[in-house]
Amino acid sequence: MAKVQVAQISVPEGWIDFGIGQPHIDILPLDQMAKASSHRLEQGDRNILQYGMQQGDGNFRISLAQFLSAEYGAPVDPDHLFITAGISQALDQICALHTRPGNTVIVEEPSYFLALRIFADYELKIISTPIDENGLIIEALEEKLVKHKPVFIYTIPTFHNPAGVTLTADRREKLVSLGEKYDFLIVADEVYQMLAYTSAPPPPMTYFDTSARVLSLGSFSKILAPGLRLGWMQAKPSLLEPFIVCGYLDSGGGLNPFVSSIVNSMIELGLQKDYLNFLRKTYRDRMVALSKALRQHIPALTYTDPDGGYFIWSYLPEGTDAEALLAEAKKHQVGFQPGIKFSSTKGLCNYLRFCFAFYDQEHLVEGVERLARIIR
Ligand SMILES: Cc1ncc(COP(=O)(O)O)c(C=O)c1O
Repeated sequence: MAKVQVAQISVPEGWIDFGIGQPHIDILPLDQMAKASSHRLEQGDRNILQYGMQQGDGNFRISLAQFLSAEYGAPVDPDHLFITAGISQALDQICALHTRPGNTVIVEEPSYFLALRIFADYELKIISTPIDENGLIIEALEEKLVKHKPVFIYTIPTFHNPAGVTLTADRREKLVSLGEKYDFLIVADEVYQMLAYTSAPPPPMTYFDTSARVLSLGSFSKILAPGLRLGWMQAKPSLLEPFIVCGYLDSGGGLNPFVSSIVNSMIELGLQKDYLNFLRKTYRDRMVALSKALRQHIPALTYTDPDGGYFIWSYLPEGTDAEALLAEAKKHQVGFQPGIKFSSTKGLCNYLRFCFAFYDQEHLVEGVERLARIIR
């Protein structure tokens, strides 16, 4: 029988691809999910198999709010949560409900390249604005706002993909003020918010919202499992309303009620908390191992260790073509993401993104050694 592919990516035997920004299946929590599933199914409540409440199962939102309150160190109101099928779905729905073809959105340079794909599906005009080691540069953004009228800005404020940086609290306040002054929505993709390795980041963007214009997007993809397709939007109720009453949910009901009920048990049994702590320790150790290996074997690379997330964002001397380097690296079964992929202006050609979440420490070091031989 022909071999069928069951997951989005399959890595050929012997390859080390730093370009993969996903968890490795070896550490996905199968046993914990089995426990949580039994715990939920043994309760015999067939409601979990019914069309779900549009905003998301009320019991799940209460559990999720408690879990997030503890993690953020800030209160979360279950009425400020809307259950999504992950951040990608939320972004798609935001575009569907808030934009028309030809509308402008502002993104960071660099930005998460697959979000750019979603915006392209909706034929949106993309304007980019630079970031530095403290995230979005507010003055540069305001210069863009004088010339353009975006429907929203898409930002990754915490442990940015790919840049690893975090927007300071002061800049968060200023961003919201700009939102008020120029009247646009702030779509904050906070997929890495809870993967902090050194110190706690500022709370999600919605906590800085003074005028109902911030949508904070969270996901279980990086703290539990991407295959669940489960996430949340946290925002003031008036902002959630259009999502809750839209035709899609009126017809299909709330998103993923069955999966929500199992994840509810993961939270109730304390398994989610334990697993998140395990991930933080594992990824911190992997980040340190990768950073050390890069420093030792590829001294020409410049980068700062991230305080959380999945990535080390680095650059080689000006004029280096990371795409050409990648073509050469692939001949030696090693890969990474070239910076140009994250650029909406076809720049960042000498940048390389390394993910440290997918491989164990031994493979991370082996991959760096392979790449170092090519760069030499
Ligand atoms: C910045 C960012 N946003 C969103 C996603 C995807 O999130 P989800 O699986 O919840 O759709 C990723 C996954 O790599 C990501 O890095």
